Amino acid sequence: MWHHFDKSSTFTILILVFMLGRKKPKPQIDQEQLELFQNAQRRIKQKKRLYYHFVLFLFGAVLLILANTVLGIGKDFTIFGREWFVYAIGIWILLFLYHLLNVFIMNRFMGKEWEKRQLDKLMAKQQNRIQVLEKKLKKEERIIEQTEKPKESRSHNNSGSQLTIIVAAGENNEIGKDNKLIWHLKDDLKRFKKLTSDHHIIMGRKTFESFPKPLPNRTHIVITRQGDYAVPQGVLVVNSLEEALEAAGNDSQPFVIGGGEIYRQAITLADKIELTRVHSQFENADTFFPKIDTSVWKEINCKMHDQDAEHDHAFSFITYVRQA
Ligand SMILES: NC(=O)c1ccc[n+]([C@@H]2O[C@H](COP(=O)([O-])OP(=O)(O)OC[C@H]3O[C@@H](n4cnc5c(N)ncnc54)[C@H](OP(=O)(O)O)[C@@H]3O)[C@@H](O)[C@H]2O)c1
Repeated sequence: MWHHFDKSSTFTILILVFMLGRKKPKPQIDQEQLELFQNAQRRIKQKKRLYYHFVLFLFGAVLLILANTVLGIGKDFTIFGREWFVYAIGIWILLFLYHLLNVFIMNRFMGKEWEKRQLDKLMAKQQNRIQVLEKKLKKEERIIEQTEKPKESRSHNNSGSQLTIIVAAGENNEIGKDNKLIWHLKDDLKRFKKLTSDHHIIMGRKTFESFPKPLPNRTHIVITRQGDYAVPQGVLVVNSLEEALEAAGNDSQPFVIGGGEIYRQAITLADKIELTRVHSQFENADTFFPKIDTSVWKEINCKMHDQDAEHDHAFSFITYVRQA
């Protein structure tokens, strides 16, 4: 049978097959717009009906009046001395008013449910916006904090952390004798423990050897030139101060705890000095802290501790921050 078809009919059939096979594209109408459109249609219908009611009422009222006055229907029927059509028209007016109220007041445009949904959406949008703004604000606050951070908390040594020297020194910067401290100040040791706990403590080999054993809750970094210096487990050994700073990794405040040789090298790199100034002179001392240059270091805090039964010397806790 196929051979009866000429070229043009084959083409027509192909087009028909193609059109029938093609799926109708689904209308991509926004659900909200559709709702709005359907409601607008509903409103038009409501208002039209109200208009017809009004026209009907006008005709009806005239008809009722004519029925009574011209045709004489119920001419003798009065209520409280008034013709019946007056009451009939009155009742109709009330019905019409009810209809009017129903259209304009009770039946608002999209209904309460729709309004609530819209309000919720708006609130969610606002909430999102607030969250975005809050994030931006926090970011900006961080940037401002960074730029306005006082020098005391900025790193001077490119490590990003606040390298702090902690030391106790006499009036002439004396710090030790025969690889030992020259005094025993209980409250100073307490403060030392409080400040350095959970941090890295960087020290020279000789200071490390002045301890009977490593101090608890601190990571010890010992600086030595020796290649095979043996230490207990957990103690880190490095060959320079720079290596020590690297080993302190991301500690926000590593402490340099001495002794004299290491202090001399660290004071050019440190950001802060926690000095316990012991208010006495120790003539037999053999190790000293470098002189604090007040054009470089600014005193920001000072607290005095008197001599007492437990402390042979008066002393002051003084905090310096680098200002140049
Ligand atoms: N009052 C205080 O607050 C306080 C605090 C700490 C210590 N101290 C006192 O200070 C005294 C010890 O101080 P110190 O000056 O004699 O010794 P230190 O500074 O504790 O240690 C010196 C040693 O550190 C190593 N070292 C120093 N610089 C180095 C570098 N650039 N590279 C590699 N290794 C380096 C060397 O170790 P190697 O010889 O092994 O190569 C050197 O012998 C003691 O009396 C101690 O009690 C007092």
